[in-house]
Amino acid sequence: MWIARLVLVVLLATPGAAWSGLPDPPLGTGEHADAWRPDPMHEYWDPATFHRPETGRMAGIFAGKECLECHAVITPGIVKDWQASRHATTGTPVLCPACHGEDHQKLIFPTPQTCGTCHPERLAQMEEEKKYGFPSHALAMERVVDAKHFADKPKAEVASCLQCHSVASKCDSCHTRHRFDPAEARRPEACLPCHSGPPHPDDESFFASVHGQKYLQEGKNWDWNRKLAPGNYPAPTCAYCHMRNGNHQVADKAVWKFGIREINPRTAENTIKRKRWQETCADCHPSGVAEGFFAALDAERKASWNLLYPVEALLKKLRSQGLLRPSARERPPYPMDLMARLLPRERIGFFEGQASAFYNVSAIERDYFELWYFNSLAAYKGMAHQAGGYAKSMHEKMEEAARAIEAQARALTEQGAKPLDLTPIWMEGEYTRFNREHN
Ligand code: HEC
Ligand code: HEC
Ligand code: HEC
Ligand code: HEC
Ligand code: HEC
Ligand code: HEC
Ligand code: HEC
Ligand code: HEC
Repeated sequence: MWIARLVLVVLLATPGAAWSGLPDPPLGTGEHADAWRPDPMHEYWDPATFHRPETGRMAGIFAGKECLECHAVITPGIVKDWQASRHATTGTPVLCPACHGEDHQKLIFPTPQTCGTCHPERLAQMEEEKKYGFPSHALAMERVVDAKHFADKPKAEVASCLQCHSVASKCDSCHTRHRFDPAEARRPEACLPCHSGPPHPDDESFFASVHGQKYLQEGKNWDWNRKLAPGNYPAPTCAYCHMRNGNHQVADKAVWKFGIREINPRTAENTIKRKRWQETCADCHPSGVAEGFFAALDAERKASWNLLYPVEALLKKLRSQGLLRPSARERPPYPMDLMARLLPRERIGFFEGQASAFYNVSAIERDYFELWYFNSLAAYKGMAHQAGGYAKSMHEKMEEAARAIEAQARALTEQGAKPLDLTPIWMEGEYTRFNREHN
């Protein structure tokens, strides 16, 4: 491994190869740190690791008032937002150097730890998520950089991951800089840049619910300066439910988590989490509503797996008959996956390795992936967010997809394991070449 690192360091040291903003040759972070390099935007997404001050342009050590004077001209939007923020109007103003430092050659971008020096309770709450494991805001960055497909795919394709998963490395995801307005953070729109799209259509599912409809109808008249406490809002929103009473952690109630695999919702730990959910619903509903609701949610997940497992078994059968083409041997191995190099094998379902199912697979495997990862997770969110109609339509999609996969499997079986040379397309194709060159 040290040889690989040495080669990489030499490569990075060649003029023009490294990103010029970083003085040292930067490697990535996480388990595959050797295999990828940060793009310039990384200094925003993971400032603790990658922010380097732009040296050479501006020099000097400035007091807070001097920063304001200059930046009122250079970045007037920032100064206006800051002036409208509590940081400017509170007793002793929190001036620019409190978050950026005062030496213009050594400016920092604030990390959660920087904010935590003055807001220790909020930082501690976010850190507490780690004890609940994945998924969570606090661990979101690790989750991305440790994913094999993150290091495998060209940077252009995975840059988007960081825009969302940087929620772990900076506090300005929900209350944006430099207004830092809790009223903004309380609204569903604060979550939606990240909580949308497959496989997590939290936006669609929430807006399809009675709660979401009430927000759409009346939300513009609610007083968003009020805390997220019982009695302050007629209907719940994302933060009301998931950050109850302003608690800066979103993992202490999650039972099904992402919805991505079957779990036992009735373990001792999950029973405690469910109680927290029931207390949340009880702000507005009699206790029976929550009990009935969670029973229905568990039943929905059960129904989902009743549909998914037979499809999974069908794919495993095709695999054993050698009918998945191109097979794992006929497609480029994941560079990060030693096992895939030594013992190429198609991975099916969560437990055989979810990362391998994203791309570089045969058509029928991809169809199963979409059924499992997109349709089923959307059905979960529909149910979890009290949007029965949405959940039902997703289940219809799942049934349709399952039927299509069965038909495809019949066709593959009839066709049989004909000799077929797929190497020219898969091992040497345009995409594969691009990947090799742009990692
Ligand atoms: C409470 C903390 C805080 C204070 C006070 C603060 N900033 Fe920032 N500033 C941030 C954060 C957070 C970012 C975003 C960093 C990131 O994306 O990782 C930022 C980013 C910036 C940027 C880069 C913007 C960009 O898009 O490239 C500039 C310039 C900046 N701040 C100037 C100022 C000035 C001038 C002041 C004083 C009026 C100020 N900041 C006060 C937290 C603060
Ligand atoms: C004499 C004018 C001047 C003063 C005083 C000044 N700045 Fe700047 N600042 C600039 C200029 C020019 C830039 C670069 C803007 C650009 O690249 O577009 C900049 C950029 C920045 C950035 C963005 C850095 C990055 O890496 O993207 C931050 C943050 C910042 N200043 C904060 C401060 C703080 C904090 C102070 C006070 C300690 C301060 N500035 C004082 C002129 C000034
Ligand atoms: C030097 C101390 C200091 C630092 C550093 C700091 N803050 Fe603050 N912050 C304050 C003070 C003081 C207040 C006002 C508290 C009050 O009114 O009770 C405040 C208020 C806030 C508020 C509430 C604003 C409102 O309108 O009620 C938010 C949100 C906030 N800070 C976020 C942040 C974030 C995010 C960071 C890091 C990027 C940060 N703060 C860094 C001291 C700080
Ligand atoms: C900058 C992007 C971003 C924003 C904004 C954001 N989140 Fe997240 N959230 C994520 C990511 C990424 C994950 C998954 C992290 C992982 O893979 O471990 C996540 C996970 C979650 C989870 C799952 C926790 C679990 O234990 O299952 C909840 C609940 C959640 N967020 C709620 C919210 C709410 C509510 C808001 C708005 C107030 C919000 N998020 C705003 C990116 C964001
Ligand atoms: C639009 C924002 C967004 C983008 C882009 C995004 N994610 Fe996520 N990701 C999320 C959210 C939100 C969740 C959590 C959903 C939930 O808990 O329901 C999540 C969950 C995950 C999980 C599962 C977490 C777990 O612990 O089970 C992994 C792994 C992951 N993302 C990796 C990636 C990778 C790799 C990329 C880029 C290829 C990526 N994400 C792109 C927002 C995003
Ligand atoms: C997932 C979205 C989200 C993230 C990430 C987030 N906040 Fe908040 N923040 C909120 C919401 C929502 C409120 C309003 C809470 C309420 O109504 O009680 C808030 C309010 C605040 C306040 C206002 C006063 C208070 O204590 O209630 C402070 C200070 C604050 N956040 C600091 C931080 C810090 C520090 C971080 C990073 C460790 C952070 N926030 C990250 C959503 C977020
Ligand atoms: C009425 C309360 C409520 C509202 C409003 C709400 N959620 Fe949820 N959300 C839930 C429940 C209940 C679950 C399922 C929890 C479980 O059993 O794991 C859930 C699940 C989730 C999950 C997956 C993690 C998990 O706990 O299973 C994410 C991510 C999420 N919601 C984000 C959001 C976002 C973003 C919004 C706003 C667009 C939102 N939620 C609105 C109650 C709510
Ligand atoms: C802040 C108050 C509030 C909270 C918290 C809340 N709800 Fe609601 N809920 C409402 C309102 C208001 C309605 C619309 C009632 C109406 O007018 O029919 C509603 C409607 C519903 C409906 C639709 C009932 C119907 O008539 O179709 C369900 C189901 C529901 N809520 C479940 C939940 C669950 C489960 C939770 C907790 C995860 C929860 N709610 C939390 C306020 C709340």
